[in-house]
Amino acid sequence: MTIDTSDSNYFDWNNSFDIIKKAYDSSLFVLIIGPKGTGKTSLVRKFASEIGKMLYSINFSLRTRESHLVGTKTMNQGEVTFVEGILIKSMRDGGILYLDELNAAEADVLLRLDEALDDRRQIVLKEAEGQVIKALDNWFVFATINPLSHEGTKELPPQILSRFPVRLRLEYPPKEIEKQIIKHHVIIDGSNENDIDDALKLANSLREAASLEELYYSPSIRESIAFAKLLRNAVSPKEAAEVVYANVYDQWGEVEYRKVMDMITSIFG
Ligand SMILES: Nc1ncnc2c1ncn2[C@@H]1O[C@H](COP(=O)(O)OP(=O)(O)OP(=O)(O)O)[C@@H](O)[C@H]1O
Ligand SMILES: [Mg+2]
Repeated sequence: MTIDTSDSNYFDWNNSFDIIKKAYDSSLFVLIIGPKGTGKTSLVRKFASEIGKMLYSINFSLRTRESHLVGTKTMNQGEVTFVEGILIKSMRDGGILYLDELNAAEADVLLRLDEALDDRRQIVLKEAEGQVIKALDNWFVFATINPLSHEGTKELPPQILSRFPVRLRLEYPPKEIEKQIIKHHVIIDGSNENDIDDALKLANSLREAASLEELYYSPSIRESIAFAKLLRNAVSPKEAAEVVYANVYDQWGEVEYRKVMDMITSIFG
């Protein structure tokens, strides 16, 4: 659980900002759906920082409990006090709540959240003598989900989906755009342009193979940035491709890894 306001060098390549701003102005919560590493988190962080609001983030997993959201009672110098969780803090502050990977959450956690997300935007704290917390008018919520093909994800119940009437899809960008994204993170030497193009070709082939279930893993924009950073630090293109793109497939065994190494050898020599 973190609270942060840090900026990021997000490149709004598909004009997501525009619709997000309109959703925000209309108090319509936003759901972002897309595979890992397509910029979901960066987009939300950038938006929060652009409008100068505090971002309250929580990353869901099977182990996330209601208490992480709502808060817990603790003993403080012999007295029981209630320490508010991130949901309550964001409501009181009128900040931006960011529910990351919401479809990894358990049903009871979702149910509790649902109480706050409905049109009244309030929650009863059964943990703190039934106190009613009402969100400030400018409270806003983003949620992200990974497509169901991702490990550990479940279907979001329809009533939760309906709390987020604005839905954005983020996909892997076209190669030229991905290159521009890389340039927002790494200074690319002219002499490396071709290697980056080759790496993006490779990344896209791997993504396609993964989507056809020929490979188990699909590299994200993160890997493309990592590849460029290694080149920048004088690692050869082939070695960079090996460590960034190929070695991970060893997790599924030699055959999977070999398939990818063969592709790398045919591209990078
Ligand atoms: N449009 C973009 N502009 C600049 N950087 C980007 C963009 N999209 C992705 N990135 C970079 O790619 C990496 C992955 O992005 P991010 O963490 O936002 O993805 P994500 O969709 O939240 O991934 P996950 O599902 O794994 O949480 C980050 O380093 C981010 O800075
Ligand atoms: Mg993320």
